[in-house]
Amino acid sequence: MIDVLILDFGSQTSHLIKRGVESWGIRALLLEGDASFSEISKLYPKALIFSGGPSSVYIQGGLLPDKNIFSLNIPILGICYGSEIVAEMLGGKVNKGQKGEYGKTNFSHLGNSDLFKFLPTKFTVWMSHFDKIERIPSGFTLTGKTSTSAIAAFENPARKIYCTLFHPEVVHTKYGDNILSNFLQKVCGFAVRQKSTLLDTDEFTRVKVQEIKEMVKKDLAICALSGGVDSTVSSFLVHLAIGNRLTCFFIDTGLMRYNEANEIKKNFQKTFLKIKYINAQELFVKKLKGIIDPEKKRKIIGQTFIDVLTIEAKRLKAKFLVQGTIYPDVIESQGTKHSHKIKSHHNVAGLPDKLSVKLIEPLRELYKDQVRYLGKSLKIPQEIINRQVFPGPGLAVRIVGEVTIEKVLLLQKADLIVREEIAKINLNESIWMAFAVLTNIKTTGVVGDERTYGETVAVRVVSSRDAMTAHWTRVPYEVLDRISTRITNEVRGVNRVLFDITNKPPATMEWE
Ligand code: XMP
Repeated sequence: MIDVLILDFGSQTSHLIKRGVESWGIRALLLEGDASFSEISKLYPKALIFSGGPSSVYIQGGLLPDKNIFSLNIPILGICYGSEIVAEMLGGKVNKGQKGEYGKTNFSHLGNSDLFKFLPTKFTVWMSHFDKIERIPSGFTLTGKTSTSAIAAFENPARKIYCTLFHPEVVHTKYGDNILSNFLQKVCGFAVRQKSTLLDTDEFTRVKVQEIKEMVKKDLAICALSGGVDSTVSSFLVHLAIGNRLTCFFIDTGLMRYNEANEIKKNFQKTFLKIKYINAQELFVKKLKGIIDPEKKRKIIGQTFIDVLTIEAKRLKAKFLVQGTIYPDVIESQGTKHSHKIKSHHNVAGLPDKLSVKLIEPLRELYKDQVRYLGKSLKIPQEIINRQVFPGPGLAVRIVGEVTIEKVLLLQKADLIVREEIAKINLNESIWMAFAVLTNIKTTGVVGDERTYGETVAVRVVSSRDAMTAHWTRVPYEVLDRISTRITNEVRGVNRVLFDITNKPPATMEWE
């Protein structure tokens, strides 16, 4: 028997619904949205949540749950696409909208729905949809709207079915936790208790260390250490299980930030990990020659990492490869049956089909904030835990178009200025990443009465908790001004600076 069964229709954030429900001390399970009725009823769920998803309910072959699902007569919460499913299957109408609603939106609820109990009438929510609910089913009442969606929440309390077109599971929806708790408590009747939204680190470590011991037995493992928190925490966990039978490799791709390889070497001298450094800069840049397509770049980088590591694994006769894959890497690289591929994270979809080593990915189910928390409990040095997130494919996905050494050097300088200036200010919110992007746009400028035709650098600063949603950080104008002036004065070849003001969704954090 399961408390809450989440039917997953392929949303990027379905797994966050599970995290949200479990943060209230209620057990939840994710199952594919088109699971059969018998499979679902065998689990005896006490409540259902329909996730969002990329399909459309009105198209031929649109992804729908078994129609008998409503005969279970248990509470249902429909989220985004899940609310459209309820609308369409119970006699309402959904159609293609005129306008999308992505990211931040102001929502107003209209009355005294249990779902919005004790909440202000207006608050910010995050949306990600284009389809429009035109009519709600009979027996349902409208409970909320936005300026774009006249129907943004509706319910049938007698049948205990509640729907929101927005995503309560994402951290950017204000009161999202309260909405989930209202559903669990007031609609489903569960006794909720707020647990840490992070992790029971002792239990997690105990279980993972045991699993790794059983898996590796007396064999050897290698690890691809990037210098960031994910691969470091993974290595620490594996080291706890098998000690020095783990060898870590830091591969310098040449696509790192300014002076980063040296800083990483220095930071890791403070740990007890056995580390070998490999300089593979030439190899990576050679493989990327002439490549423009972002997905091709990502695949090539993933493959090159594996090529280098396979040689080392063979040399050492290691049977296992440890990777710091976390959940957003998995879901964006198409981690579930119905989700869309957003980008091939180098350590997931960048891998070749056949690997000569077995993968150990102890953090596959976790988000970055949980990994940092776990890292602290494992006493990993602060400099590593707090290092600003950096993607495995490095600056290659921040250089639009072909990657060359000259472009990498130019971007490193601009990026350093962005990070230096941002580090000087104290903002109220925590910045997830601050970086520069080389946009591949050339424009005209004028310096010292001379015409220039130079590069355009974009500055991206985003705030987030778990990388699934993010907003652009309100960097003060005077800081942006300093960044722009310094970049154009200090980085030869750049004559224009842009500030990226796009949230996720609709944009991803990285440009590629
Ligand atoms: P996006 O661009 O997907 O970024 O919104 C979310 C977070 O993931 C990081 N990222 C990656 N990390 N391998 C990684 O290890 C990858 O291939 C990769 N792609 C994106 C990104 O830097 C951000 O923190």
